[in-house]
Amino acid sequence: IIHMKDLNLNNKIVLIRVDFNVPIKNNKILCDNRIKASLPTISFALKKNAKVILMSHLGRPKEGQYDKKLSLFPIFQYLKKIFPKNNVQFNNNLNNIKIKKKELLILENVRFNIGEKDNNEILSQKYANLCDIFVMDAFGSSHRKESSTYGVGIFSKIACAGPLLISEINNLEKALKNPKRPMISIVGGAKISTKFKLLEKLSKISDTVIVGGGIANTFLAIDHNIGNSLYEPKFIPLAKKLKNKNNILIPVDSRVGIEFSKLTPAYIKKPHEIKKNEEIMDIGDLSIKKIITIIKKAKTILWNGPIGVFEFPNFSLGTRALAESIAKSKAFSIAGGGETINVIEMFKISNKISYISTGGGAFLEFVEGKKLPAIKMLESVKKKIYN
Ligand code: 3PG
Repeated sequence: IIHMKDLNLNNKIVLIRVDFNVPIKNNKILCDNRIKASLPTISFALKKNAKVILMSHLGRPKEGQYDKKLSLFPIFQYLKKIFPKNNVQFNNNLNNIKIKKKELLILENVRFNIGEKDNNEILSQKYANLCDIFVMDAFGSSHRKESSTYGVGIFSKIACAGPLLISEINNLEKALKNPKRPMISIVGGAKISTKFKLLEKLSKISDTVIVGGGIANTFLAIDHNIGNSLYEPKFIPLAKKLKNKNNILIPVDSRVGIEFSKLTPAYIKKPHEIKKNEEIMDIGDLSIKKIITIIKKAKTILWNGPIGVFEFPNFSLGTRALAESIAKSKAFSIAGGGETINVIEMFKISNKISYISTGGGAFLEFVEGKKLPAIKMLESVKKKIYN
């Protein structure tokens, strides 16, 4: 892979694919982590006298249709404040771009363009024609084979990786290849079907995997009737197979309630005590103790997903204890996935985690061991080395 930092950017038009897919409501950016993570890349290119064009998707609009709620305009306004000394423009017309040294131009949501999601060649070529150098820096979108993440790189004169993408790859590899041991992984959250593959992979490389949420319930359901709890019967055979390896930490007690609501009281139950009308929403005190002990010994921690319904105060204790012990740990810790980021924000521990990935789906696929299309593209483009 060619690195952006190794290229001469002076006076070049540098088109950077960023991931600005952030929550926006009534023109207000609700969480700017992903934008902040891209700022060093943008600043670097501007300092090197590049003409910088940014492109990103936002949400999942209908192709070919403008949707005001999914416009990148609020992000353009945000960036104007961040770069007061640079001329910052916003453009929704790919045919009419004029840009000077040290200027910044933000393109409108790429998913408004017909062909973006299908990695259409004509559109990819159009993006490529805009620039001298294409920089893929959107780790969060690198599992997508779309015109702005893939095709553009194939057609541009030079395609390289930006510093954020490089740093994501390096940090993830630090945890996944030759981790310092013991290595502890945590797999939680509600989306069971997408998490079992991750669990399977992590159980191979971790000393212990702590499970929570619907995943943990699926393990409990092997031997117990767990009432109304969320679990996935179709994964029970796989859960049985993984359980035999003895490195999965399954909760020994749970907090249950009789309805999925904020005010439902929590009762601590052993798995065999759970009644038909009860539903597991967090782990119990004995399980919390076990988790704390294990995290204390860890040298590497890889964390994806909350272990209970952390949005409900009565059922947030397990996730809080987990978050706090990871925050206290001296281990190399890495966290990723949308829900995990919400937990980190809620318990205000972002500065206590060694590395927080900007990827949701991309993080999961990378950890599962899949080769991400955008990274494959960067590896495959045999471009003339820039001079
Ligand atoms: C994400 O939020 O995971 C990325 O921005 C990708 O978004 P997508 O799932 O709509 O492609």
